Amino acid sequence: MKCIKTIKQLRAQIMHWRLARESIAFVPTMGNLHEGHLQLVRAAKGQADKVVVSIFVNPAQFDEQDDFSNYPRTQEADIAKLQSVGIDMIFLPSPEQIYPEKMLTTVSVSQVTENYCGAARPGHFDGVATVVCKLFNMVQPDKAFFGEKDYQQLLVIRTMVADLNSPVEIISVPTFREVDGLAMSSRNTHLSQEQRQQAGQLYQALCQAKQALFSQYNSYAEIEETCRQKLLGQGFKPDYFSICRRSDLQTATEKDTHLIILTAARLGTTRLIDNIQVDLSC
Ligand code: PAF
Repeated sequence: MKCIKTIKQLRAQIMHWRLARESIAFVPTMGNLHEGHLQLVRAAKGQADKVVVSIFVNPAQFDEQDDFSNYPRTQEADIAKLQSVGIDMIFLPSPEQIYPEKMLTTVSVSQVTENYCGAARPGHFDGVATVVCKLFNMVQPDKAFFGEKDYQQLLVIRTMVADLNSPVEIISVPTFREVDGLAMSSRNTHLSQEQRQQAGQLYQALCQAKQALFSQYNSYAEIEETCRQKLLGQGFKPDYFSICRRSDLQTATEKDTHLIILTAARLGTTRLIDNIQVDLSC
């Protein structure tokens, strides 16, 4: 497994693989790797000759300086985990490699970024789209792998790739959960012991809303409000709890069948996000 820090070295290795007609799968990460990331890597390994994982804590996607400073950085442990799964290259660029000078270009995806995390975290998705676009240009993968936990991010990236004709296939991987249902996330390490015990209730609220959608007894707005109130009562501060159309994240109507329930809520200072997909036609 090669650990590569510069774009020049990265390009040389990629060219070498390309000349040998080897396909490349890419898993971009911000490190602090957990089982959810390793699932992405395992999925990638089954679908290409070579697997590249990047670790870069991207300053451009943090809307709060403290959040960026406190983001867990665990490079040695991350490298060991990737070595145990068996990948071909870790790309570990410095901020100077990714943002050498003041950038005059931003990749900004409209509409799908307007609500939910886009509204709660101004500039976040511009930071994500810009760095992912840059990483795609550097790694030039055939396929790139993203978790469904960050569903809005997944949609932003799919939209960007389609709109910019990027020759990358985006593959989504289902959310990996702890036994109590909490979605695996690097941010879970910020939770106190007590908060960690409460945190599984976020997924329970999503399951409750999913069940309520099948019972057809309450309107979507009532289901959302009941779950929001329940989370508030359990000590969460919900940013949003919304039943959406899965294809474009517009507010779902009773005619839509492929839905997703999105939520983000704070427990103390930790912001957790999660979602659950619902197919009413089934
Ligand atoms: O999901 C993440 O970890 C990040 O948003 C990503 C896609 C690596 C871009 O920095």
